[in-house]
Amino acid sequence: MCGIVGYLGNRQATEVLVEGLSKLEYRGYDSAGVAINIGEELSVRKFKGRLQVLADDLTAKPINGGLGIGHTRWATHGEPSDVNSHPHFNKEKTIAVVHNGIIENYLELREELQKEGYVFLSQTDTEVVAHLVDKFYEGNLLEAVYKATEKLRGAYALGVVCKDNNNELVAVRKDSPLIVGVGEDENFIASDIPAILKYTRDVIFLENDEYVHMQGPKVTILDENKNVVEKKINEINWDIEAASKGGYDCFMTKEMYEQPKGVEDTLMRRLDEKGRIKLDDIKITKEDLEKINKVYIVACGTAYHAGLVGKYAIEKFAKIPVIADIASEFRYSDPFVDENTLIIIVSQSGETADTLAALRDAKAKGARVLSITNVVGSSIARESDDIFYTWAGPEIAVASTKAYTTQLTAFYMIALNLAMTKGSISDEEYFASIEELRKIPAQVEKVLECNELVGQIAEEIKEANDIFYLGRGVDYSLAMEGALKIKEISYVHAEAFAAGELKHGSIALIDKGTPVVAIATQGKLFEKMVSNMQEVRARGARVIAITQEGNTEVEKSADRVIYIPKVDDMFASITAVVPMQLLAYHASNIRGLDVDKPRNLAKSVTVE
Ligand code: M6R
Repeated sequence: MCGIVGYLGNRQATEVLVEGLSKLEYRGYDSAGVAINIGEELSVRKFKGRLQVLADDLTAKPINGGLGIGHTRWATHGEPSDVNSHPHFNKEKTIAVVHNGIIENYLELREELQKEGYVFLSQTDTEVVAHLVDKFYEGNLLEAVYKATEKLRGAYALGVVCKDNNNELVAVRKDSPLIVGVGEDENFIASDIPAILKYTRDVIFLENDEYVHMQGPKVTILDENKNVVEKKINEINWDIEAASKGGYDCFMTKEMYEQPKGVEDTLMRRLDEKGRIKLDDIKITKEDLEKINKVYIVACGTAYHAGLVGKYAIEKFAKIPVIADIASEFRYSDPFVDENTLIIIVSQSGETADTLAALRDAKAKGARVLSITNVVGSSIARESDDIFYTWAGPEIAVASTKAYTTQLTAFYMIALNLAMTKGSISDEEYFASIEELRKIPAQVEKVLECNELVGQIAEEIKEANDIFYLGRGVDYSLAMEGALKIKEISYVHAEAFAAGELKHGSIALIDKGTPVVAIATQGKLFEKMVSNMQEVRARGARVIAITQEGNTEVEKSADRVIYIPKVDDMFASITAVVPMQLLAYHASNIRGLDVDKPRNLAKSVTVE
């Protein structure tokens, strides 16, 4: 859950590294550092704080050199501090290492190395790697990295440089993302594509246990047995603009406003000329479906919330029982998974550690794995039997918005597709549903127009210490997403309740002025929701209702009403979530917080 970059070429490495790290700050931003080969030695600079602290220092005191590694950190082992920042190095500062992942056996290794006289400066797991490479280094860096990694257990993407050779960089990937950027007479390593897109569009995706050996302009990929592996060079066809703010005040705003396009791309690119859903990367046949007796949807955070909505869609259309579970719970429980189970894994990044582990457990039990992910070539995509790529484009803000709405779109499409394959839906319902889905991008566009109103509401409730979110059925899943959004970027305590459950205890929390966001998009549950609004209002709550146009009756029971356009109840989730995203954004902004980089968090959680 950190970002690493490495460069070998004719440019000033620091410029490339700082530029690359700026695109990876979403992965962690509590400290940053670089190590540059300056001829006879390595120059290491690393500081606690945002990348800007490092960038300012490098501007004031530049380091010259064309070989270097850089890191932006999300602390796991040891608090954010200068000393715990990467790169880490050996005693003589002749070998430097950047690392993303977790070395699980680092304590054991640390003890062994200490017995051999190695002295540790930091509390990190990574420092053992620097000392191990030192221990095995006899003039051949690649060999030393091979020997060091033999000792490691856990997940790592590593970049290693040595003072002895200013023309050599070694890297390796195991369960943490790493790509190689191939340029003209220059090469790059990075945790993610945006970091190198300014310089090259030619990218090699590494598999686990693949090693990168850069020597001058030459880059070789080797497997764990030191055999050279011929790798495909992929051309990246999306633009750096897609990963920049493009005039918006922050990535979250940009990404919220990209939702109409994201949903449209995700949907329209998969409709054939007859208007039917065509999912080329999902090969589940009618015979396969006959064997499948249950579906598990497994994910974390927002992706899990999308899965909760997916459960409703699959059960309604495809008539298969669905269990939605949190990946970190699923992997340590004893789920009923076998060869008759379909596992749907949801992950924007495609790299979330718990989700990936759940995928592997399920596969080991014989389940078929279908993944919904936004990142082409990610670990989750590569290890799945069937894939649905959301077309959200890169999502940078820690708070997930467009990934969520495109995941919902994916679920509706998968549910309809499974239903058609299985024969559990009539042609009429199938095409009518697709017709409804086609309307959604324009409707999301329309909902975004409530931004000003939501800004006013955020102002009205800015003193609140707690906000409650209520919903029934699929709206309860949305309530969970709304509460998560506000918690993570505004740091206001928020909780979601199934509205009918409130009177069984939690209603005691409602006090004079407590904001309650009540979501009422489901016709058959509408009256019940209105009663719940009255219940909390009678106890002093300030009710903010989200409902479909035409449900004006709600105005008697709410202080504020946000209307979303009328759509089939089943698909209202995609539009109804938008005001809650906007509310979280405004709440964060009003408090003067960093919307895109909330405290304690990182975008991609590649550690358990
Ligand atoms: O990359 P993933 O979709 O697997 O990430 C899962 C969660 O970490 C993520 O959705 C998280 O909850 C978001 N920050 C919420 O906005």
